[in-house]
Amino acid sequence: MKGIILAGGLGTRLYPLTGATSKQLLPVYDKPMIYYPLSVLMQAKIFEILIISTRSDLPRFQALFKDGAHLGLKISYKIQENPGGIAEAFLIAEDFIGEDSVCLILGDNIFYGPNLEEMLDDVKDHKEGAVVFTYHVQDPTRYGVVAFDEDGEVIDIIEKPKIPPSPYAVTGLYFYDNDVISIAKSLQPSARGELEITDVNKVYLERKSLRVKFFGRGFAWLDTGTFDALYKASSYVQTIQERQGIQIACIEEIAYKNGWIDVAMLKGLAKVYHASTYGSYLEGLCPSNDMQLI
Ligand code: G1P
Repeated sequence: MKGIILAGGLGTRLYPLTGATSKQLLPVYDKPMIYYPLSVLMQAKIFEILIISTRSDLPRFQALFKDGAHLGLKISYKIQENPGGIAEAFLIAEDFIGEDSVCLILGDNIFYGPNLEEMLDDVKDHKEGAVVFTYHVQDPTRYGVVAFDEDGEVIDIIEKPKIPPSPYAVTGLYFYDNDVISIAKSLQPSARGELEITDVNKVYLERKSLRVKFFGRGFAWLDTGTFDALYKASSYVQTIQERQGIQIACIEEIAYKNGWIDVAMLKGLAKVYHASTYGSYLEGLCPSNDMQLI
């Protein structure tokens, strides 16, 4: 299974914050936003990852992650020249995906909850069809929204409906078989001029090969699309981390727990960040410090 993080877009709704940097590099409390989706792919045990961004922003991601070897990852990079829609990622990533199945995650989506790893475990070996994750939201009009029949079967997905058929939004985490490439190729741009991920999902729905899973009560799928949402996401991360003394989306910790890096590499990374509390946390994870990984 390959992984794609789509971190494109101009982030105009966050101007001037995004005037000189990518939205997905903005801080969510103590780490760049992209750490959060990257941590999800890593929790799904996906280590071959493609980051897609704009021509001007891509070098900053390359500076941040290099080839990913220090995390036991293989990270490569591709440019999305224009904001052509989420489904365009599969055209850009065609060579990278090869014959594999693929997980796509949006670079501004933050997922956090106790059962996340189990849910990912359940779908990570997924080879046929598609899996999407939905979440109960207050204002579904901003998302792709799932419509159910009276038996609770999914019958439609509607992109940004004026009158939502349900409160269940499709989140920015998607698992697909290799057919996704040919499906993306067959799409026509929508009214907003984009290849819509919802149209991809509708093809799988028509083929009866779309699985819809739910992130339930207590799970956090956080928004980062406005100043307030970004501030609240930071505040959420700060609150949980301070209370528990456990980091959210600590990619070095996940790499270590996955067995992708050894203690010596972890110690090396802790040294790099020694001046910040993030570095102290990494230092505390090294087994010589008698700390148990949870
Ligand atoms: C996109 C998708 C939408 C999905 C959302 C999740 O919306 O088009 O179906 O619910 O991501 O974040 P956009 O970011 O293009 O507004």
